[in-house]
Amino acid sequence: MNPNDIIADKNSGKSIRTSDLHSFISGYVEGTINDEKMTGLLRAIFDHGMTDDEIFTMVDIMIHSGKQMNFEHIDEYVCDKHSIGGVGDKTSLIIAPLLASAGLYLPMIAGRSLGHTGGTLDKLETIPGFRADISIADFQTLVKNNGAGIMAQTSEICPADGKIYALRDVTGTVASVPLIVSSIMSKKIAEGIQGLVLDIKVGSGAFLPTVEKAKVLADMLKKVGEHFGVKTDLVYTNMDQPLGNFSGMACEVLEAIDCLKGKGPEDTMAVCLKLSSKLMIQSGKTKDETESNSILTALIKNGSAFDKFDEMISIQGGDLNAFTNTPAFTHEIIADKSGIIQSMDTTQIGWGLVDMGCGRKNKDDILDATAGLECHYKIGEDIKNGDVLFTCFCDDGDKLKMGIEKITDSVSIGTEKVDVTLIYN
Ligand code: URA
Repeated sequence: MNPNDIIADKNSGKSIRTSDLHSFISGYVEGTINDEKMTGLLRAIFDHGMTDDEIFTMVDIMIHSGKQMNFEHIDEYVCDKHSIGGVGDKTSLIIAPLLASAGLYLPMIAGRSLGHTGGTLDKLETIPGFRADISIADFQTLVKNNGAGIMAQTSEICPADGKIYALRDVTGTVASVPLIVSSIMSKKIAEGIQGLVLDIKVGSGAFLPTVEKAKVLADMLKKVGEHFGVKTDLVYTNMDQPLGNFSGMACEVLEAIDCLKGKGPEDTMAVCLKLSSKLMIQSGKTKDETESNSILTALIKNGSAFDKFDEMISIQGGDLNAFTNTPAFTHEIIADKSGIIQSMDTTQIGWGLVDMGCGRKNKDDILDATAGLECHYKIGEDIKNGDVLFTCFCDDGDKLKMGIEKITDSVSIGTEKVDVTLIYN
């Protein structure tokens, strides 16, 4: 069928036939379907959605756009964690080595920045020498030997997600249940894992901010997991404000290192422990959250979790000894009244970070490893007129100015007492 007819069918609310979806996606991967046509299809899916069967088919086609990993030779539990995307979310950097130090195996395929949210790979690549474009054969060996590794989608694994993800990022087609589900689940299933935990973000910085929409997304993710035989647990977490104190590029890796050394912010540690504990229980290693938490906190305390991170980074070519963050420009955003922080427009904060060099407006944009911000106050905290709300930094003065304009208006200060729920289940 002609690609234009497939787009027109979706735009008129019809389901796409398996063979048509297959030829569209494989044509895009091979280069016979261009960005413009694929954008047409993504927009049509964004506007009209997909049936459950179409989503299962789309996931299957995307998995088979490349090879799949196989860890059948490993006796231990092979699993992964993935997040829907947020601001300041560095949990993958912590959870992969932490769980590997507990004896689980995590072959993590991570993403780059998407829309207003940061990307695990972009953050990791701020470490001098770190490489995420690894062959599947090397990655499997690395995971087998070290317990955890973090790689990118490559031309070998889930190339359909690699290409579609990059296109969605710059065409405003991110916040769509079928597109998020097919993107996440295709690469997770291609990892050859037995189990998965998904961090479903809810709040002003999430792609689907309301609990109702997040639940629709979460239910579909779980259905796909079950359909493909991957045990899938869900945790709903708050994204009404950036997670942790730092959001951006290298600064998030440094904060993740603090977490692995037991010096991380409370919110980030709580989310990491909750997600990690789900996988500990799922794998049968522990019977409940209390037991998981005591094992995991001991692994942080005795240095094993950080040692595993160090090992993972150096096996992938990174040099933590040469890793610093020295941005050329810094600016403080000051509170213009006293009161209690009521809310934050975290999507707006994310777009400010994109302006500063933490995300892409065009596919080929080069990111700024030094870019980011420190958030000095959180929702519900008292603040005084003149206090520093955010310290923003990066290597380009003009970009910093653009980012600051967005971030300055992102916080509301009032008089009401506000409670924040960090984890909903
Ligand atoms: N993470 C992904 O891998 N894909 C999405 O679409 C959203 C979050």
